[in-house]
Amino acid sequence: MKALMLVDEQKDRIKMVDIDKPKLQPGQALVRIKAAALNHRDQWCREDKYPSIKYNVILGSDGAGFVEEVFDSQDDKWLGQKVIINPNINWGSDPDVQQHDYRILGMPENGTFANYVAVGIDRLVQKPEHLSFEQAAALPLGALTAYRAVFRHGRVQPGQQVLISGIGGGVAQFAFLFALKAGAEVSVTSGSDAKIKKAKAYGALEGYNYKLKDWHKQAYNRARGFNLVIDSAGGDQLNTFIKILKPAGKLVFYGATNGLPASLDLYRLFWNQGTLQGTTMGNDTEFAAMVDFVSSHKIIPVIDSVRPFADIISAFDDMKAGNQFGKLVIQMD
Ligand SMILES: NC(=O)c1ccc[n+]([C@@H]2O[C@H](COP(=O)([O-])OP(=O)(O)OC[C@H]3O[C@@H](n4cnc5c(N)ncnc54)[C@H](OP(=O)(O)O)[C@@H]3O)[C@@H](O)[C@H]2O)c1
Repeated sequence: MKALMLVDEQKDRIKMVDIDKPKLQPGQALVRIKAAALNHRDQWCREDKYPSIKYNVILGSDGAGFVEEVFDSQDDKWLGQKVIINPNINWGSDPDVQQHDYRILGMPENGTFANYVAVGIDRLVQKPEHLSFEQAAALPLGALTAYRAVFRHGRVQPGQQVLISGIGGGVAQFAFLFALKAGAEVSVTSGSDAKIKKAKAYGALEGYNYKLKDWHKQAYNRARGFNLVIDSAGGDQLNTFIKILKPAGKLVFYGATNGLPASLDLYRLFWNQGTLQGTTMGNDTEFAAMVDFVSSHKIIPVIDSVRPFADIISAFDDMKAGNQFGKLVIQMD
């Protein structure tokens, strides 16, 4: 089968290879991948910027396809089923936090950028019927991360003012769609006016270009402060977000693309009873709840583009350049 592997080479750390189909272990299923999608962790791995990198591993955390084989005959009911894959491995029993040996599919485990992947039977979830394979493949990692950020930590309520930063991002667009469906008034930021325009077409109340000085003043005046801000960029901009929270507001963050802030406005945060909340992925119960939410609200992920597997490296390049609006999806066959 064809697979995109993370390799320890100077020229580029990702390479298309021809390898054998995975051999199943007890408790596993073989999924023939119809569509996969990129997450920024795939590009971080390529840039050697992800912790505990292991080479000669197939990347990819998002995938949808058919179950083609199962190891145990008791799992035969899965054969031929259309599924998406929960990329959590070993979250553990505490819903609040993953356990020490928690891992994400697609480094260190072989992932979805291949014609086949072997996963635990308990990682399979029926594909939402209203979604194509390409749309369903966009869900797993990004929608799970967004679901936990918006609902568990953000506790979003109808009518609240919510700000989603960097709306072009794969996770951000899910956070946006979920907050909208929850009845919030959702505004966005982006470094691109064109992306802001697109977000407004999807129902954003307002959009602000974070490259403009003092964008936050306009945002604060318009919304009279935000109950919830969801961010993945981090950096000094965190202080801007703290400034535009309403009293008792929450800033939930799941990434730090721009690194650490040089300082943090703790004074304002404690005086206003604010919350600064980190979040990562989501537990298996949240994965199931996310898929139910997507199905019951007939949510369609925002997809930037769908391209053939042979062109997957160009999708990595687009992600690095930050050109995308939504998920970068790959058709595997
Ligand atoms: N903790 C977790 O579980 C978890 C899960 C998923 C992702 N992450 C992390 O979250 C980040 C985003 O991941 P992703 O997969 O959604 O990546 P992505 O699709 O590549 O999105 C990155 C987005 O970041 C936005 N951005 C860049 N600079 C910004 C700034 N100064 N202010 C606000 N937004 C900015 C851009 O939005 P615009 O183009 O609109 O400007 C860009 O589209 C990455 O650092 C990733 O590692 C963490």
